[in-house]
Amino acid sequence: MESFHNLIVNRRSIRKYTSEQLSPEDVQSLLEAALLAPTSKNSRAWHFVIIEDKNDLERLSHCKSNYATSIAGCALAIVIAMDEAKDEAYIEDAAVAASYIQLQAADLGLGSCWVQVRGRFSADNESSEEIVREITGIPDEFPVICIVSIGHKDEKRRPQNLEKLKWESVHIGRYRND
Ligand SMILES: Cc1cc2nc3c(=O)[nH]c(=O)nc-3n(C[C@H](O)[C@H](O)[C@H](O)COP(=O)(O)O)c2cc1C
Repeated sequence: MESFHNLIVNRRSIRKYTSEQLSPEDVQSLLEAALLAPTSKNSRAWHFVIIEDKNDLERLSHCKSNYATSIAGCALAIVIAMDEAKDEAYIEDAAVAASYIQLQAADLGLGSCWVQVRGRFSADNESSEEIVREITGIPDEFPVICIVSIGHKDEKRRPQNLEKLKWESVHIGRYRND
């Protein structure tokens, strides 16, 4: 592994992928990363639905009006749903798991992109969650938070620009508005 700092400087959202499939070892590492993510009260209330079927990926890519196109061409999508009855911090837990998956993907040299599902709507104004449920079979009681699309990169993106970090968001000792 390169240094963790280099990894996060170089990680960018990747929305275009080649047709190359992921190796079983890569898939195993990605799922281990998901299952290694910390959770509130160790509730581990996630459900990760793995989608590789091209037709299902295409259908998922229409679950929202825009910004879901990365799913259509990816090798594998991980749909993250949560058993909200287990812990009120379920959204945070899903976000941490998605981040772990994205960082593991970056470490494997793969590209990934978070596609927001919760609170979003399709071009026909249908709930994105409902569309995803219909394709994946996720039960009604489990909120669908997001989908992480993953594949071999087919676009080059610049590393993060450290000159543009939003240092004004950092408050030392006490919040200040100036
Ligand atoms: C909560 C969250 C929701 C996001 N939703 C989407 C999305 O629906 N579609 C998409 O293409 N990218 C989505 N992204 C990716 C962001 O657009 C991206 O992380 C941001 O523009 C910064 O770019 P970078 O990841 O290359 O640093 C999302 C990221 C986060 C953390």
